[in-house]
Amino acid sequence: TYVVTDNCINCKFTDCVEVCPVDCFYEGENTLVIHPDECIDCGVCEPECPADAIRPDTEDGAEPWVEMNRRYAEQWPVITEKKDPMPNADDWNGKEGKLDLLSE
Ligand code: SF4
Ligand code: F3S
Repeated sequence: TYVVTDNCINCKFTDCVEVCPVDCFYEGENTLVIHPDECIDCGVCEPECPADAIRPDTEDGAEPWVEMNRRYAEQWPVITEKKDPMPNADDWNGKEGKLDLLSE
């Protein structure tokens, strides 16, 4: 599976949802997540993210991201169409410590 990591927070560019063949992105207030049981591991979303926030779960240290993505994918609504990014998305891109800002 692929996972959305913390650099999506407060950016939410949503380019990723347009390319996903199985519509497995779910939307919270200020970030998206991928449902790990629905993702077919195609990898097409990874290069589409302007914030480089999508990673394969085979990377070192990815386990907490899989759990985080699963938890919220089960609570949040699916998103299948691109929308405007969050205000100041470009300023938030790459900021440290964004995980604390996640809105549930
Ligand atoms: Fe969707 Fe493929 Fe990205 Fe998984 S890797 S979230 S199936 S686009
Ligand atoms: Fe987030 Fe990147 Fe998608 S910022 S909404 S994972 S394109």
